[in-house]
Amino acid sequence: MAKPKRLFRCQQCDAQAPQWGGQCNECGAWNSLVEEIQQASTAAGQEMISKHATYAGERQSSVQSLTEITSEQAVRWSTGLPELDRALGGGLVTGSVVLIGGDPGIGKSTLLLQAMAAMAEKSGVSPLYVSGEESLQQIRLRAERLELENAPVDLLAETHAEQMIAVAKKRQPQVMVVDSIQTVFTELLTSAPGTVAQVRESAAQLVRFAKSSGVTMILVGHVTKQGAIAGPRVLEHMVDTVLYFEGDSTTRFRILRAVKNRFGAVNELGVFGMTELGLKEVSNPSAIFLSRGEQAVAGSVVTVIREGSRPMMVEVQALVDETSLGNPRRVSVGMEQNRLAMLLAILHRHGGITCSDQDVFINVVGGVKLSETGADLAVIAAVISSLRNRAIPRDWVLFGEVGLTGEIRPVQAGEERIQDASKHGFSHAIVPAANAPRKAVKGIKVIAVKHLSEVISVLQQTE
Ligand code: TYD
Ligand code: MG
Repeated sequence: MAKPKRLFRCQQCDAQAPQWGGQCNECGAWNSLVEEIQQASTAAGQEMISKHATYAGERQSSVQSLTEITSEQAVRWSTGLPELDRALGGGLVTGSVVLIGGDPGIGKSTLLLQAMAAMAEKSGVSPLYVSGEESLQQIRLRAERLELENAPVDLLAETHAEQMIAVAKKRQPQVMVVDSIQTVFTELLTSAPGTVAQVRESAAQLVRFAKSSGVTMILVGHVTKQGAIAGPRVLEHMVDTVLYFEGDSTTRFRILRAVKNRFGAVNELGVFGMTELGLKEVSNPSAIFLSRGEQAVAGSVVTVIREGSRPMMVEVQALVDETSLGNPRRVSVGMEQNRLAMLLAILHRHGGITCSDQDVFINVVGGVKLSETGADLAVIAAVISSLRNRAIPRDWVLFGEVGLTGEIRPVQAGEERIQDASKHGFSHAIVPAANAPRKAVKGIKVIAVKHLSEVISVLQQTE
């Protein structure tokens, strides 16, 4: 077979070049040329294409009405880890391709080894775990640590994409894990493993294999600060589901977040804790994010956020301190800095409380990231509490979006959040008026507010 022709293509302007160069000749962009395979450039290839084109022209493409098509129920396997199932939208869909991204060392290999072992043992699925990063001995050591050494999981140490596919064709596993895609290379390209071209082309081969053979494929991808471009970002459109494994590697908690899912809701979260015996599921995340001391302290406020399909209680902390520099600092961990600046401006303009001579630090406890606006009210309350050095009672909870005119706007699933707060023993909830339930919720007093000024006066009364 003739070797396919290679060329280099600029990622900015799509210009082609026969050789690699530091700068694109067309648009002048630096370091934008990426190697790729020229598709069907040979005479034989062209002939093939034209032949297929005639076939396609003669064949009758049939149009069907949406109502006539009967859907095949997607078959889902439980991975044996309910939190992983939750992030996947209710289990692993057979024949799908899943990408799990995350920083190195966050626990991707551990998670997948545990999931494969549990799937093999509980559902009788035959998994193949291909590792390009670790030797089989290293995986065995890890399995011993996890007490999974007797699990019926097939292992393969391989980085050559074609070879991997050849082995998979022979063994016919039902689930295949490739850990990690950055180590895989295809012989079609000469560039080094881990480069954009290699990652993209080997992933494309694996995805094609998965779709044609029906094997369920799980790809692991590293996201690194410098190498983000060669990371799984370029793969996101090729796969059915993208999960990100997040968390600070210094804390125990890890969050698995769905950012794309053709078979379920996005922003579904799975929460895990890393222990000596591997990842343990956390089925009631509020309990860990809320572990607070007995005493109410200034600057600490609890809010209910909604991640995916469940409400979650998190603690937001603020520290407001006199600035020693000319320019006051606004630092936020777990929320967007621009949003903090906006909330402080609203607090000044519509609440009459200024922080212009104060440094403001915000931290969301437990490494949670606030991705919705429902936590606005809690951030503002935490800032007021810290600024005045007055604690908000421990069993109070707040949620709601704050608009630019100081109005308190409703959020999704308000009643569910209030119920969740009540379940966790909270006695008072400050909520947007439009979210106030018609019927009283047992065990919790709801204080409905329409404007920031009402929130401030309610908080003053608690003092
Ligand atoms: P790993 O799964 O190798 O991460 P990744 O594949 O995402 O690079 O996890 C590595 C970290 O997990 C490592 O720092 C040690 C820790 N760990 C535990 O704390 N307990 C365990 O039982 C295992 C297997 C790993
Ligand atoms: Mg790993």
